Amino acid sequence: MTDNAPSREFADRTILVTGGTSGMGLATARLLLAAGAQVVITGRDDARLARAAEQLTAEQPAGGDRLLTVRADVAVPADLARLADTVRERHGTLDGVFANAGVGVFQPAADVTEGVFDHTVDVNFKGVFFTVQHALPLLEAAGGGSVVLNASWTPHRGLPDAPVYAATKAAVLSLARTLGTGLAGRGIRVNSVSPGFIATEMFHAIVPDPAAHEPIRASVPLGRLGRAEDVAETVVFLLSDRSSYITSQDIVIDGGLVPAVQAVAG
Ligand SMILES: NC(=O)c1ccc[n+]([C@@H]2O[C@H](COP(=O)([O-])OP(=O)(O)OC[C@H]3O[C@@H](n4cnc5c(N)ncnc54)[C@H](OP(=O)(O)O)[C@@H]3O)[C@@H](O)[C@H]2O)c1
Repeated sequence: MTDNAPSREFADRTILVTGGTSGMGLATARLLLAAGAQVVITGRDDARLARAAEQLTAEQPAGGDRLLTVRADVAVPADLARLADTVRERHGTLDGVFANAGVGVFQPAADVTEGVFDHTVDVNFKGVFFTVQHALPLLEAAGGGSVVLNASWTPHRGLPDAPVYAATKAAVLSLARTLGTGLAGRGIRVNSVSPGFIATEMFHAIVPDPAAHEPIRASVPLGRLGRAEDVAETVVFLLSDRSSYITSQDIVIDGGLVPAVQAVAG
């Protein structure tokens, strides 16, 4: 092992992962724990949080003491204020945030109700914004840090069945660009990731029929659906010092999907 061995990279660092009970958030928490971080995961449901904690602790018994679970709905700013208080009491500061929690309702414009519109915006846009806002004092207290927002490949193309979802993710892309430039002077980097088709609970909820997976898989130049770990590896890179000169950027993790769509369109 070298001095840069991954298992030590995040020692003494505290990272918040919203939506850490499944999918990309859980995969990122797993890598961070393995790299020595203190990890805080959130979700809306105590039972799902307990299950995620059990899973992570069973995989990495030494990481159990470094894991904190907090029930907090990102759509409710009061929950995010309480989350920040809890992190402050337990750790004092924060070195990084993966603002990952999100919901995906894929419906053509004509079917979107006001309730679905509001909920999607509240979680995916308002939730990400206030997650970062409440984390800022904790990041500043650490002398700076890294924030990664989970956007999506959908705003990089036209997807007829996801106008509201894609618009919220376009807002997330915009937040990464503007917050990144605005916070650079305070030592805080902000970037986003744009995952393609990643086989998580959300993907299976949107595409429940396994028969529909084959054409999706075939449309991806790399020939497979993404794994939560594919995204987690990039998120951990962006949270680490290895990316210390990168801010206000978006990294698309989609197996080549967006360039392929653009090539067809062109
Ligand atoms: N899967 C894809 O193909 C794909 C592609 C591009 C982008 N994304 C984005 O990736 C992110 C993670 O999704 P995933 O695919 O990993 O799906 P997932 O396995 O369903 O995970 C979603 C996570 O978000 C949490 N969550 C949802 N609403 C929340 C709320 N109001 N407050 C707090 N936590 C909330 C869930 O926690 P609880 O349910 O336990 O509360 C869960 O931990 C999302 O932002 C999604 O838009 C996904």
